Amino acid sequence: MELCIALDRPSLVENIDLVKEIKDFDVWLKVGFRSYIRDGESIINELKSINPNFKIFLDLKLYDIPNTMADAAEEIADLGIDMFNVHASAGKRGMSAVMERLNKRESRPKVLAVTALTSFDNKEFMEIYHEPIPKKGVQLAQHSFEAGIDGVVASVFESKIIKEHTSNDFLTLTPGIRPFGESADDQKRVGNIYVAKNQHVDYIVVGRPIYNSEDPRGNVEKILAELTQF
Ligand code: C5P
Repeated sequence: MELCIALDRPSLVENIDLVKEIKDFDVWLKVGFRSYIRDGESIINELKSINPNFKIFLDLKLYDIPNTMADAAEEIADLGIDMFNVHASAGKRGMSAVMERLNKRESRPKVLAVTALTSFDNKEFMEIYHEPIPKKGVQLAQHSFEAGIDGVVASVFESKIIKEHTSNDFLTLTPGIRPFGESADDQKRVGNIYVAKNQHVDYIVVGRPIYNSEDPRGNVEKILAELTQF
């Protein structure tokens, strides 16, 4: 299981400060809406210049018509990042278009599909999708798998059942991780590292418990120690 740190601080300088503090760790860095909209491609280059071994996950959650998604996927692949994501509810045709286009390249980033946002509780999810999270989440994961996507973004409680219905090699990345019982903030389905490990999660995403903490480096160290413990 690998650690992916969300860089959601309010400015480029603050994100870079955090990354410099943890530059010797073997971790993934997640660049999301906030920083990519504000800082664009320069944040990717800055992160790589701090440590070229950092793996970068660009969390832009594409959701559009198939041709637009495939065009955007190619632009993203040209950025030299290691992983990005789309919304599974954009449909199987859109996800297949993305993968067909990327598979023509010599190398490509990993592609994940978001099943259900971890901020949804079951009631909110039902209002949009008219089915409970576990059922619809598994169905969306199966669509992603059939479209040739590499894995899904899901809550920590759905990883095992998703792998059972797709493949053990189908990757799961789970946000909403609160390693030491921190506040859930706006997340609804949160779990700790122990749960993630039991659920055979491949990547945990941790944001506020690291970037808002008094001791981000210390927290990363503690999390990495826990990852190797179980
Ligand atoms: O601060 P926290 O640990 O809650 O950060 C979670 C990160 O993961 C945020 O950047 C959020 O945008 C992202 N994310 C999520 N749920 C998803 C997909 C991404 O929380 N389904």
